[in-house]
Amino acid sequence: MTPIDVGVLISGRGSNLQAILDAIAADELAAQVRVVISNRPKAAGLQRAAAAGVPTQFIGHRQFPDRESFDGALVEALRAAQVSWVVLAGFMRILTPVFLDAFPNRVVNIHPALLPAFPGVDAQTQALAYGVRVTGCTVHLVNEGVDTGPILAQVAVPVLQDDDHDSLAARILEQEHRLLVETLQRIALAGLTIDQPPESGGRPKVRFGSGP
Ligand code: GAR
Repeated sequence: MTPIDVGVLISGRGSNLQAILDAIAADELAAQVRVVISNRPKAAGLQRAAAAGVPTQFIGHRQFPDRESFDGALVEALRAAQVSWVVLAGFMRILTPVFLDAFPNRVVNIHPALLPAFPGVDAQTQALAYGVRVTGCTVHLVNEGVDTGPILAQVAVPVLQDDDHDSLAARILEQEHRLLVETLQRIALAGLTIDQPPESGGRPKVRFGSGP
């Protein structure tokens, strides 16, 4: 089986990137990370990539006049690296159609909540503030909305009585690492099919595998 060629976008720590790199090294994920791109020069994930021998690039969003031109630079770098899938692993920028149209239904994001609950930034604080007893993480395809794309996989995580942000975030993060790797492996093994909704409405649905 041919491994999938992946580009990973990060903004910070890069522990989800590390989970991907570790799974590839352990032969548990049929993928090759062709490039890791960060919009922040000091993102710790850049060192993680370099340590694994993966090419890295810093593309700062502030160097561009608007989102579209930043996205254009990302697309150019990802195309040059010949990636066919893009993983957002803690990438904290919203992508425009310039990016999404270049990789249609090929951009995967990991989010630390059970979407559609708590989209956007700091989902763990949102969950604690709301007082939910269960939260979790979601892997989904990226569309033009904020964390609104078709859901690929989810795991529930309990919120405990004395949780603070860090204890909850750590419990979710453990599951993120597992869920992201598992989902990418399912994509690598089976591919993805998008079923468009009927004209009467609804949302596109995704399933692993090909064909009708
Ligand atoms: C992860 O918890 C990820 O789900 C979250 O940022 C963290 C990145 O951690 N992403 C979002 O909130 C996106 N909306 P990492 O850099 O250690 O992988």
